[in-house]
Amino acid sequence: MIKIRVPATSANLGPGFDCLGLALNVWNEVTFEAADKSTYHAIGEGAEKLNKGTRNLLTKAYTLVYEVCGKKMGGVQISAQNEIIMSSGMGSSASAIVAGLFGANEMLGRPLDTNELLRLANNMEGHPDNVAPAILGGLVVSIMAQEEIVTKRYEVPTLTLVIVKPRVDWPTRTARAVLPKSVSRADAIYNIGRAILVVDALRNGDLGLLQKVMEDRIHQAYRLRHISGGAAAYKAAKHFGAAALSGAGPSIISFVPPEKAEQARLEIAKVFHERGIETKEIVTIPSSQGVHKIN
Ligand code: HSE
Repeated sequence: MIKIRVPATSANLGPGFDCLGLALNVWNEVTFEAADKSTYHAIGEGAEKLNKGTRNLLTKAYTLVYEVCGKKMGGVQISAQNEIIMSSGMGSSASAIVAGLFGANEMLGRPLDTNELLRLANNMEGHPDNVAPAILGGLVVSIMAQEEIVTKRYEVPTLTLVIVKPRVDWPTRTARAVLPKSVSRADAIYNIGRAILVVDALRNGDLGLLQKVMEDRIHQAYRLRHISGGAAAYKAAKHFGAAALSGAGPSIISFVPPEKAEQARLEIAKVFHERGIETKEIVTIPSSQGVHKIN
């Protein structure tokens, strides 16, 4: 039996659209055990939806490794204990893909190296910004260069993060469909400098700098206008520190001084509650670990 943990991730981090991602100290645990018949069972976040069948992102990723390695797949009993909220902008699909790939690779005695896992994960997800930190941990800059995913991973100090997820219907497909096909040179320049400075601010735990530079002109505004309460919650979050749409949303992530975390959580959530929208909130820190085995 193999037991693994895979972290949640927050992608984009403001200006780093499709390139930047941070692993979070929020985990899904998954066990894999050889069995006569393949089964899948989840408890925790998303369990109701996930337990409807055995075909999901995690099992597809698991199967893919056997196919890629030319190995015959026997039965496997998969049990997941999920903390990562689904459809939240916290990388739940990336975590499922990475868990499936990593679990299968462990079951097979590690035929694939980290780069191969990264490439397969990116092919399934379509962009590397969530899967790379889910695999490597920490803060990761990742780009696609032809066939290769080039990554650079950085350690991040213990910052306090408040994530507020409104209960709204916001599939990633829609979140990508609302974006413009092209951006102006001015907006590109606006984002390039800020993305570089966001990396510097996060590495140094410089909240003052982060607050100035965690701004974006190529995705957030286009998305926030479709998320009920989103723009007002984002504004409330900025009052406490640096804020961004987490991944494609709908969650808002805010980097705040630890003593302000509770107040930030309540105030950001209140913006949604006032509009009759329920929320889930998480106060956490970055994780320097990516997916790993735990028994
Ligand atoms: N970079 C991606 C996006 C992350 O913003 O659409 C969500 O998958």
